[in-house]
Amino acid sequence: MRIVDLIDKKKQGNELSKDEINYFISSLVNNRLQDYQTSAWLMAVWLRGMSAEETANLTEAMINSGEKIDFGETGRQIFDKHSTGGVGDKVTITLIPLLAAAGIPIAKLSGKGLGHTGGTIDKLESIPNFSCRLTIEELTKQVKEIGVAIGQQTGNLTPADGILYSLRDVTATIDSMPLIASSVVSKKIAAGAGHIILDVKYGSGAFMKTPQDAVELAKLMVSIGKHLNKSIIAVVTSMEEPLGRAVGNSLEIIESIEFLKGNIIKGDIAELTYDFALLALMQTGKFIDEKTAADYLKELIHTGKALEKFKELIIAQGGNAEVINDYSKFPQAQYKIEVKSETNGYVKRIDAYKTAYGCKLLGAGRDKKK
Ligand code: URA
Repeated sequence: MRIVDLIDKKKQGNELSKDEINYFISSLVNNRLQDYQTSAWLMAVWLRGMSAEETANLTEAMINSGEKIDFGETGRQIFDKHSTGGVGDKVTITLIPLLAAAGIPIAKLSGKGLGHTGGTIDKLESIPNFSCRLTIEELTKQVKEIGVAIGQQTGNLTPADGILYSLRDVTATIDSMPLIASSVVSKKIAAGAGHIILDVKYGSGAFMKTPQDAVELAKLMVSIGKHLNKSIIAVVTSMEEPLGRAVGNSLEIIESIEFLKGNIIKGDIAELTYDFALLALMQTGKFIDEKTAADYLKELIHTGKALEKFKELIIAQGGNAEVINDYSKFPQAQYKIEVKSETNGYVKRIDAYKTAYGCKLLGAGRDKKK
């Protein structure tokens, strides 16, 4: 098999066989590909797409490209939630401590910002010294000890996604259904999750611009789950406007802390966090009655247990937990400009994409492969 033939086959719009996909991924992770070959293949996939079967085979090859975490019996309990990418989307950061405080074990593999969208890792790593670079042993140990860990694709977990993800980020090949679906699902399954909820975004700030495309992507990911014998729930939500009030790495952590302190009780962040948490409590079988589950979640916020869990997570991953009570410990912007309205009125709409693009220009994302 020759890589150039595989690129050409995809470029012509033909389906790659399972063997061809396995060969491509194994060449990728064994350093037998040049970045320009991988980039050409990514662009061919972006232009020609992939069938559901090809996408499932790609996902499987990506999972098998590295080690997999096996939590044994507890594995079935492990929960993970992933968003396909948005602007101001800090719901992972509000949800994870809340669910961990509810006793649901969470092992999460997150991503860095991709294209214009923010990444959970970039946000968390704005906490001084916080690191998502956990080895598989560290991740597993931390989940056993404190019930929650957030890692990234370093080490040998889905190394294929690590390489493809950083190349997609700089070659305009992000917004492709098979590439998003395989990237998201491979990470979740390799990290050992037994319960997976996917938040599939549509709108100006999302990779899928229309609800129809988001539904198609959601169905594709659920079908990959079926193919690989995993139960995946996908929820389609709007990303027309930034979520919450803050966009930017440390600003979003501050907003999340405010939620965990019980200071944000209304609006999209609170709604989405409680909705996903409720879904997770039902999916994992922790509660069968929604009303009792909803009261329980509110209780975890009011008693400070969710915030306490977030503090534990920060400390376990080397971060400075003083940020929780002292926001000046976060890195500060060199320049700040306050823009005051000169007339009375209200903001009708904030374009998510333009806001994110502005953040990227200010340094929140990457222009080179990293
Ligand atoms: N999140 C991921 O992990 N991968 C994608 O491709 C998009 C969002």
